[in-house]
Amino acid sequence: MQTRSRKPKGGFEENDHCDIIYVDIDQIPEDLKEVTRENFLSAIIHPLTIEEFREKYYRQKALLIKCGEVSRYSEIIQEQLHDLDLYDLCENTASEQVHIWYPDRKGSNRKEQKETDSFGTNDISLALTSLEKGGASLYFGAPVEFREKYVKKLACQLGMDYTAYFPDFTSMSECEIFIAREGGYTDYHSDFQENFSIQLQGSKLWRICKSGMTSPLVGFTPHYANSGNLEHQLKMINMEIPLEFDKSEIDSYQDTIRIDAGDILYHPAGIWHSVECIEDSFTINISLKNLNKADIIAHSLKHLLNQDPELRENMTFSSREDFNTQIQSGIEKAFEYLKDLTPEVIAPQNQFIPRYLQYDFRNQEQLDLICKKLTTPVTKKNKLYFNPLSMMVRRTSIPQEEMDEGVDFKIHHNYAGNPDYESSMTVEIIADEDSYDFLENLADLRIREPDYQFNMEEINWRKDKKLVQVIKILVYQGFLVVDEV
Ligand SMILES: [Fe+2]
Repeated sequence: MQTRSRKPKGGFEENDHCDIIYVDIDQIPEDLKEVTRENFLSAIIHPLTIEEFREKYYRQKALLIKCGEVSRYSEIIQEQLHDLDLYDLCENTASEQVHIWYPDRKGSNRKEQKETDSFGTNDISLALTSLEKGGASLYFGAPVEFREKYVKKLACQLGMDYTAYFPDFTSMSECEIFIAREGGYTDYHSDFQENFSIQLQGSKLWRICKSGMTSPLVGFTPHYANSGNLEHQLKMINMEIPLEFDKSEIDSYQDTIRIDAGDILYHPAGIWHSVECIEDSFTINISLKNLNKADIIAHSLKHLLNQDPELRENMTFSSREDFNTQIQSGIEKAFEYLKDLTPEVIAPQNQFIPRYLQYDFRNQEQLDLICKKLTTPVTKKNKLYFNPLSMMVRRTSIPQEEMDEGVDFKIHHNYAGNPDYESSMTVEIIADEDSYDFLENLADLRIREPDYQFNMEEINWRKDKKLVQVIKILVYQGFLVVDEV
């Protein structure tokens, strides 16, 4: 297909590998003209709605949205990107180093696979001199604030919610700034993240080709010199498809598209792409990453398995038969434990964003608000049980001052499957006179009798209004689960 630089007003071009939408900027609704944190996804994919984007493109097909209006990003440029001042951006990078990419000197034919030589530095002057005088490109993380505020928001707007965060609330996604000189070239490779490229200066030609990979767990990156990782990448990709990397075949099928300043390109994980810089350029690459369903279920199952003394035991065996017997019995137990997992057990209501980080039982207004938000009905007829993925820790049980002053308990949720047993959700509780003893007993009961069942009928609903509220909040938190049977 032909590459284009002129923008027809409005219009759509369907291609094999990357569709193109030409935006008529006069038709952009007022609330989407300036790209902000609140409208981030809706503004950059306009004129598509989020639903249309998810249905037709997300995880499926690349899409270039040609808008050509950099001024839409002025808030981001001024408040987050230091007015594109390179020294300030390098100084405030979220990455440990600024990476300097050297241009390939093999000439302009694209037939041979070109490899990118790069090295990292903390010497900003060296990086900027390499860019200005050595024709190198620079690649480094965007400022932390942009990643933590804007990229997180984008992930949420796409429906990733809590699955896009590490347990400490930092973003799993990455956001890199790529400053390339005219002639810079990155050869064909695929990535494992969902990618948005926002072009803020200059122009690039992207060559894009579908690969047949869907939701790959790793990229395939032969463009890095001495990657040393291709065997590992191939074994992972071969879980899904046979992969014969043939650059000339990819090159014969690809769509070439041109991205100019003010345009945005979405490309899904697993597509082949190469990028040629035809003018000095400034690009923000947002690479979204979050937990997949296998992660969510497997982490939770591991939590359950780790509560079983037999499965928690380190493996020792006296013979092959002994090994087989122990593992077979473990597999059978795992099947049984799996039945204890439900969506509510894994991700109670408070797991989702925005999340309460503290419950203050002295604050009646907060209690009323949470109870109003609770979508799981709790009635007199219900029976409740302890969430097997949750634990309540009492301040008085800890011999050192670790909890913040005033905090009486902490509920930890879904931790035994995470690296270093980090809790995927933690909430502090400040108790009041009416609730302290109840919570204390509950924390003890959870440890001593994890299978205990609560009968809501045994509570005097009229007299113990506060107790009912505390229970509802513990259901919202997921420490207690309503038995659906
Ligand atoms: Fe890439």
